[in-house]
Amino acid sequence: MSFEEQLHQMFPTADAIPAEYRLEKEVHQREYLSGGEMKPWNGDVHTVLSPICIQTANGLERKVIGSYPLCGPEEAMAALDAAVLAYNDGRGEWPTMPVPERIACMEKFTGKMIEKKPEIVQLIMWEIGKSYADSVKEFDRTIEYINTTIDALKDLDRNSSRFEIEQGIIAQIRRSPLGVVLCMGPFNYPLNETFTTLIPALIMGNTILFKPPKHGTLLHYPLLEAFASCFPKGVVNTIYGRGNVIIGPLMETGKINVLTLIGSSRVANQLKKMHPKVNRLRAILGLDAKNAAIISDKADLDLAVQETVLGSLSFNGQRCTALKIIFVHSKVADVFLQKLSAAISQLKIGMPWEKGVFLTPLPEPQKPAYLKECIDDAIANGAKIINENGGAAYESFVYPAVLYPVNDKMKLYREEQFGPVIPVIPFDDIETPIEYLIESDHGQQVSLFSNDADELASLIDPLVNQVSRVNINCQCQRGPDVYPFTGRKDSAEGTLSVPDALRAFSIRSMVATKQSEMNKNLLNRIVNDQTSNFLSTKYIF
Ligand code: G3H
Repeated sequence: MSFEEQLHQMFPTADAIPAEYRLEKEVHQREYLSGGEMKPWNGDVHTVLSPICIQTANGLERKVIGSYPLCGPEEAMAALDAAVLAYNDGRGEWPTMPVPERIACMEKFTGKMIEKKPEIVQLIMWEIGKSYADSVKEFDRTIEYINTTIDALKDLDRNSSRFEIEQGIIAQIRRSPLGVVLCMGPFNYPLNETFTTLIPALIMGNTILFKPPKHGTLLHYPLLEAFASCFPKGVVNTIYGRGNVIIGPLMETGKINVLTLIGSSRVANQLKKMHPKVNRLRAILGLDAKNAAIISDKADLDLAVQETVLGSLSFNGQRCTALKIIFVHSKVADVFLQKLSAAISQLKIGMPWEKGVFLTPLPEPQKPAYLKECIDDAIANGAKIINENGGAAYESFVYPAVLYPVNDKMKLYREEQFGPVIPVIPFDDIETPIEYLIESDHGQQVSLFSNDADELASLIDPLVNQVSRVNINCQCQRGPDVYPFTGRKDSAEGTLSVPDALRAFSIRSMVATKQSEMNKNLLNRIVNDQTSNFLSTKYIF
């Protein structure tokens, strides 16, 4: 069978989908959570089409998964009002609730979320084409993230459950919420990355306006009841609709205190500028990245190939941390390319439920055309497709293409391809990749491949000041989630490890007084009578 025929036949007929992975019922969402209620919706809807196509009598068709409300500015504004009311200038039930009670709400939510695991995993797979195994991983990683966040908050609270005395001033210092948080997540980790901002923002006592990602929306539907029943009214509100229609008016009110977005720097910049008082707006952002691998002539090439495949092609290269440009020393370039092409040819292509599948269809409808444009542009500027079948595409599926030699005239040199295309640049002088990183608009991570300690040492010191994580002999990645995840330049604002996120979505507030007898008595009285939630030495065991 030719490769083209193989691609045509990778998409199943409806009957060929194994029963346990079939989407038994389309999900037509006609309600959304706002102000503590599931509000009915009878207006326009967006039909959700899967990247998974089905062979039908009329040819190949994207499977309809369901639909969701396309609300407008009016509904978005009502959700904002609900979040503002629930915060109530910091006097609401949620922002003043003692930490152990907030934790209890979150634990109840986590329990309900676990009950929904099968539905959510199924929807991750169908909505974004992530392999079933990775969809399960995304769910489990999110639960682990919530549990670790709860533990980190307990630690934070324990350390704050005491008074300090400095230069005659008694103080109690805690972290307090910031207000209303507008939270928007990305399509590639629609559950996990959204929750790595939403959960810490929520548990710190903020109230939430949550817009699910454009691809990866319906998978949040099973959780809305849990949000409604586990948190006070108006604490979590959802907004649905076109981002360019509903988000601008929300920002222009000036009532959003924190913008948290995992997406593009272009959108983040536009939104920040819409806020009437930029100094009041906190922004916690995970943005563009173009992480490079630098493979020296002293590298273990088999290891470099293995990590390059994982780094550039896991989830079809649709990770912000993906390796998006590869620099290889010209002495080893030929061998590296040959080994890389061989490794790619071993990757299993197919439907997300297939065991061991690595490459799957892409959820963004315009992505195959964009990747073709990048590949054509590279070829026009002197690159060749190195691997067999590289760039072959059919409907929503694109087979990985290795392009070599890439140069600065090509789109792939700077643009974040966010897909299965691997641009490779040869170098003789190590200054070449260093200069690339210096000039880059991005500054998230880099991967260095070498077995020479002196060479690595000479690269580490300059590169830690260009990016936020230097990976040695391994791909770039976000995890483990307790490590800091951030970036320089246009790659991020703020830091998102588990403990850092709790800090990012809160501000330190303190109560202070002079160490007089009268003041000491007053403090003792408040603490003993337990009349303040803030001024308290209660300890979470
Ligand atoms: O899309 C960016 C994600 O944060 C990447 O996370 O490195 O764990 O795949 P990961």
